[in-house]
Amino acid sequence: MAPSLIFLLFLLQIFALCSHQVVAQTGPKTWQTLPFNPGALPLAVRSPYLNTWAAQGNNPASVNNLWPTLWNSNITGWYAAVTVDGVAYRVLGDAPIQNTTTANQTAVIFTPTQTSVLLQAGPVSINATFLSPVEPTDLVRQSIPFSYFFMTAQSSDGANHDVKMYSDISAEWISGDDNREVIWTSDVNNDRVILSTQLQTESPFTDFSDHAHDSTAYYCMKAVSGLTWRIGADVQDRGIFTNTSQLTNTTDPNFRPVSDSWPVFGIAVDVGSVGSTPSSPVIWGIGVVRNQSVQYLGSDATTKQRSAYYWANFTTAVDVAEFFLNDFDRAVSAANEMDAKILSDAGGQNIPQFANLLSLSLRQAMASSEITISKDSSGNWNTSDVMTFMKNMGSAGNQGGVNNVDTLYASLPVFLYLNPSLAGYLLRPLLEYQESTAFNLPYAAQNPGVSYPIATGNSTQHNFGIEQSANMLIMTLAHAQASGDGTLLSQHYNKLLTWTDYLVNNSLSPNNQFSADVGSVNSVNQTNLALKGIIGIGAMAKICSYAGQQDQSSKYQSTAQNYIQQWAALTVASDQSHLLMNYGVQSSSGLVYNLYADKLLGLNLVPTSVYQVQQNFYITAAPQVKFGLPLDNSDATFSRTDWMMFAASSSGQDALGPMVNQLISFASVNMNNAPFASMYDPTSGQVSGGLNSPGQGAMFAPLVLKYVLSC
Ligand SMILES: *[C@@H]1O[C@H](CO)[C@@H](O)[C@H](O)[C@H]1NC(C)=O
Ligand SMILES: *[C@@H]1O[C@H](CO)[C@@H](O)[C@H](O)[C@H]1NC(C)=O
Ligand SMILES: *[C@@H]1O[C@H](CO)[C@@H](O)[C@H](O)[C@H]1NC(C)=O
Ligand SMILES: *[C@@H]1O[C@H](CO)[C@@H](O)[C@H](O)[C@H]1NC(C)=O
Ligand SMILES: *[C@@H]1O[C@H](CO)[C@@H](O)[C@H](O)[C@H]1NC(C)=O
Ligand SMILES: *[C@@H]1O[C@H](CO)[C@@H](O)[C@H](O)[C@H]1NC(C)=O
Ligand SMILES: *[C@@H]1O[C@H](CO)[C@@H](O)[C@H](O)[C@H]1NC(C)=O
Ligand SMILES: *[C@@H]1O[C@H](CO)[C@@H](O)[C@H](O)[C@H]1NC(C)=O
Ligand SMILES: *[C@@H]1O[C@H](CO)[C@@H](O)[C@H](O)[C@H]1NC(C)=O
Ligand SMILES: *[C@@H]1O[C@H](CO)[C@@H](O)[C@H](O)[C@H]1NC(C)=O
Ligand SMILES: *[C@@H]1O[C@H](CO)[C@@H](O)[C@H](O)[C@H]1NC(C)=O
Ligand SMILES: *[C@@H]1O[C@H](CO)[C@@H](O)[C@H](O)[C@H]1NC(C)=O
Repeated sequence: MAPSLIFLLFLLQIFALCSHQVVAQTGPKTWQTLPFNPGALPLAVRSPYLNTWAAQGNNPASVNNLWPTLWNSNITGWYAAVTVDGVAYRVLGDAPIQNTTTANQTAVIFTPTQTSVLLQAGPVSINATFLSPVEPTDLVRQSIPFSYFFMTAQSSDGANHDVKMYSDISAEWISGDDNREVIWTSDVNNDRVILSTQLQTESPFTDFSDHAHDSTAYYCMKAVSGLTWRIGADVQDRGIFTNTSQLTNTTDPNFRPVSDSWPVFGIAVDVGSVGSTPSSPVIWGIGVVRNQSVQYLGSDATTKQRSAYYWANFTTAVDVAEFFLNDFDRAVSAANEMDAKILSDAGGQNIPQFANLLSLSLRQAMASSEITISKDSSGNWNTSDVMTFMKNMGSAGNQGGVNNVDTLYASLPVFLYLNPSLAGYLLRPLLEYQESTAFNLPYAAQNPGVSYPIATGNSTQHNFGIEQSANMLIMTLAHAQASGDGTLLSQHYNKLLTWTDYLVNNSLSPNNQFSADVGSVNSVNQTNLALKGIIGIGAMAKICSYAGQQDQSSKYQSTAQNYIQQWAALTVASDQSHLLMNYGVQSSSGLVYNLYADKLLGLNLVPTSVYQVQQNFYITAAPQVKFGLPLDNSDATFSRTDWMMFAASSSGQDALGPMVNQLISFASVNMNNAPFASMYDPTSGQVSGGLNSPGQGAMFAPLVLKYVLSC
């Protein structure tokens, strides 16, 4: 072989080695993401159907070299570009448009409510910010399914430059099937431009590939000088902007399928001359609006349709869009305040990176649900009848479902922390349905419906009686204690008693009952499940005492205390080194995460010595695994973030710190390219399920103990 050929082969080999290293896990190489590089950046994350992210993780693409996707990774077309002195630069989306250069992404920052990206477009720097408001004490604003996208421009070479901005969305936001025909309309007046699209044939209450087939997407903007718009086709309209820096104020008359010359809804603005101070923001509003949200079978056993809370204040979706656009300045200040409060409260935990988990989780947890109201018999909105419905995205827990009880239990901390009433609105549909004649199980339901947005009940027997009955008791009491509102306790007192009696009969020896972790744990006499049941009985003792039923309270209190002694004797390992996961199985260990409920409710049922044993176990075990402790040592490759945080929060600082750091390592592992998932392999950091789970509301667990329940 000629020496040059050998040399070439040698070089190829080196190249192969190097390119192998290039595909190894790595964060961004040409920009920095603060506070860390997550699996995906939340962009417009406001509701189960307005839930769009930028996939990051391993070797991430800049936002103008990727398509934003719905949480399940279906593309939701969203494009933005600018021209600077007539030269076009792409800012968002992966569309190759003739004569459009890709701007250089230089920085990303995300906070609990906002994600912003800095891009260099020739001599001008562009700050593109995605703001998804979180308004926990204003049910109108919280329930409005709109997000803001805004851009500012700033010269970076000292000279003034002529800047124009453009952005569009496709119809992929409202259809899970790109072959479906869509229609559209433009609604333009002196105050604003509102472009919208919906399926030609809608299917009410139909969730198709996680899209709502009864929704209308809106792209809108307040009137500003130099505004132009167009409803047309992707390549053509983006090209018109590239070539002319403006649009034509026209609508393509040919309705067609989502993917047929992709109809897009674009709005452009002539920003004018930009110097070294940032231009005022150009603000787009994006919304995915539904008229009716859920079908619900209530206490009278009839099915009713419920709509999002904001409909009490508005007659048309156009009114909603206008309100949202006019609310921008206030929304930005409120979001900045929310960010500052969360980051400051997180700082109080003395774990430097704890705040990062909250920045990643807040929008995800809050966007999982729709806050709804009903109409009364005379057709008026009844704002006293508030119920919230949660879509169990990622299907963590034992199944998918609406207000899936064990997912709700995991998510509870974020609601208790932000506004405990929000937890009550989530519990109401569960409690009322189970009062109806359509429900006849002696223990609590897993959920009031298996597939969102249909919550018309399911009375099929199941094997989660302890798990769900205890969850209901714990959550209903937690809501009352944190909110100071005892209405749910008194309205559902008898139902809560029934569930408690079931727990009295069953929790000490759960035998073969399932927990939320069925499939991942040994389901014979699970100690963590028995503990939850006993805490449920202890919770009822408190509830009875609030109701002035002292005799009943004492009865349950002594049962709970008697059971917890027996439980402790069966659960503390004979060498005192850890708590067992199954009675009698000395080698079993794992996350006894229901201890958190004892702390949350302030029951003090579990002896301090038991906490101490488990805390020592966590402290010893944590340094041995990078990304978390296994949920149960029978499977070293499975854990859950929500249960990790519950377990950590029920322990002192010496265990909390290392365990939170493990969660940070998992969240920032640069391996998973999707929204924050709750089910994963703690040895490798690989995700195994629970994508975008509402259960990430558990990240707020330590804050609830510190700031909400100081009693
Ligand atoms: C959307 O994602 C689902 C998987 O979650 C997939 O089955 C479906 O084909 C995707 N649809 C489109 C239009 O990409
Ligand atoms: C656009 O690109 C084509 C070649 O792709 C080039 O011929 C043309 O001059 C460009 N136009 C502008 C306005 O830059
Ligand atoms: C973009 O601007 C916002 C203020 O609107 C600021 O908070 C954010 O840090 C900026 N983003 C970047 C990446 O510099
Ligand atoms: C991006 O950065 C490269 C390298 O510094 C530079 O050559 C290019 O002009 C930049 N592109 C833009 C759009 O600013
Ligand atoms: C396009 O429409 C906007 C909104 O109505 C208007 O302000 C603007 O003057 C129009 N521009 C042109 C070029 O017609
Ligand atoms: C933009 O201009 C280029 C030539 O500079 C032309 O080829 C292209 O068709 C134009 N695009 C549109 C959408 O007008
Ligand atoms: C909604 O309407 C109620 C009753 O009129 C009013 O008190 C409230 O301020 C309105 N909310 C918003 C966000 O406009
Ligand atoms: C919502 O649906 C109801 C019942 O079909 C209808 O009366 C009402 O006009 C609709 N509202 C909007 C804003 O489309
Ligand atoms: C409104 O809802 C509340 C709570 O469900 C109920 O008590 C009240 O009777 C309802 N009001 C009307 C007018 O239907
Ligand atoms: C009811 O729930 C069970 C699981 O507990 C499920 O297998 C079944 O399909 C559900 N039935 C209906 C009608 O939703
Ligand atoms: C509890 O067990 C007793 C004795 O077996 C039985 O009479 C009672 O009906 C059971 N109660 C419940 C709620 O399961
Ligand atoms: C569960 O534990 C109880 C009490 O220790 C015991 O009597 C029972 O046999 C156990 N159940 C199973 C299925 O092993």
